[in-house]
Amino acid sequence: MNSHQRIADLLKTLPIGRTVEVKGWVKTRRDAKDLSFLEINDGSCLANLQVLASPGLANFATDVKKITTGCSLRVKGELARSPAKGQEVELQAREIEVYGWAPAESYPLQKKHHSFEFLRSIAHLRPRTNSLGSVARIRSALSFAVHRFFQEQGFYYVHTPIITTSDCEGAGEMFTVTALDLDNPPRTATGRVDFAKDFFGRPASLTVSGQLEAEVYALALGRVYTFGPTFRAENSNTSRHLAEFWMIEPEMAFCDLQGDIDVAEALLKYLIAYALEHCQEDIELFNRFIDKELIAKLSGVLEQEFARISYTEAVERLQRAGRAFEFPVSWGIDLQSEHERYLTEEIFKRPLVVTDYPRAIKPFYMRVNDEKTVAAMDILFPGLGEMVGGSQREERYDMLLTRMTETGVNPDDYQWYLDLRRFGTAPHAGFGLGFERLIQFVTGMANIREVIPFPRTPGAAAL
Ligand code: 4AD
Ligand code: MG
Repeated sequence: MNSHQRIADLLKTLPIGRTVEVKGWVKTRRDAKDLSFLEINDGSCLANLQVLASPGLANFATDVKKITTGCSLRVKGELARSPAKGQEVELQAREIEVYGWAPAESYPLQKKHHSFEFLRSIAHLRPRTNSLGSVARIRSALSFAVHRFFQEQGFYYVHTPIITTSDCEGAGEMFTVTALDLDNPPRTATGRVDFAKDFFGRPASLTVSGQLEAEVYALALGRVYTFGPTFRAENSNTSRHLAEFWMIEPEMAFCDLQGDIDVAEALLKYLIAYALEHCQEDIELFNRFIDKELIAKLSGVLEQEFARISYTEAVERLQRAGRAFEFPVSWGIDLQSEHERYLTEEIFKRPLVVTDYPRAIKPFYMRVNDEKTVAAMDILFPGLGEMVGGSQREERYDMLLTRMTETGVNPDDYQWYLDLRRFGTAPHAGFGLGFERLIQFVTGMANIREVIPFPRTPGAAAL
């Protein structure tokens, strides 16, 4: 079964005059005189391989002339320089075997433009399109690059749990994990659902972030990261929100907010540079069809330092902007995406780090600077908004306890987290980078639903 070669390898090594075998799916068939030309794609790269089929083939009339878009094939033949324009080489077929037909009247992916919205309705077929195939290859390459960056920098990869009993962001936007019979749950004396009788003996959920558990390992191994799926039951039907998304979360002992930002900037530049170097063909597709400025934008990010301002300064800038925002700006508000985009797209025109947010709008774990602010940071990207959220963590026991009380977090539920501050506490910091937001930036895709294989959003989880 594995005698065949990947088209990506053939196009790289060009073994002209050699007999090769490829297996893939037909993009198009076109007939000229008595010949048939097939464009084959095997997913190994964006480019197709042109196959030349002539009437000498044993099954030319019975099979080859019936081949349509979407059929899967095995082709064996000789690789030759192509006399025609448009491709460097062609495969002159000696054998063509059809593995699977794809009836033209019912195969949804005909050679024409399909909207991304339509493609979402056929999530099982859409990776066979050029754009979704390119997204998938870029996702794979950048996942690998994430690990490479951290491993090169001495971080250890920690598998934080998916099922958790803590709410890291304190927002209560969690999916419950239960084995109770929902039609007939056990009840407490007061009539509430009795989670003491549930699988874990207490309420449990899907994690919104691996941070709290990553902190445990950072305070043992020094520098760690987690990279896995996270879940948010927030009812945000936007082009930047998913209910299930992947987050990259480094956590570093003996690190402050500035060190945290430095790592985030280095990581983002590394990943973008990696994509430009290793995913050239796929990125060129997006540069051609999605955003003509894409490559310029990506290269631009590498050339400049990220801008850095405090939240207070950001608010002043917005107030001086002389424009009516939908959400009025005053010190203490949570920045809305219109504010973030104005700052990064119109004022700074490059990635922007905003630091030291109001204490009243941030979770309990962020380190208190003073009466009013915490050592938080968000990294905002033009055209996208928030790419990264992070902070220095509160390492002082008493202050953490104060913050838990302030934010309504029950210390009894977080004894282990408080213990980290009782036994060998240390300054530490970390951040979360939304992997799909990164892929959106790298591909220029407008909607986050196109950059994850099977998007989960309110009302949508069919496949
Ligand atoms: O800002 P967030 O909520 O931060 C945290 O969860 C921290 N505990 C991370 C940490 O410090 N270790 O989320 C981090 C990033 C956001 O900046 C955004 O890129 C992405 O995760 N994100 C989402 N991406 C897609 N869909 C959603 N619903 C997202 N929510 C957050
Ligand atoms: Mg955030």
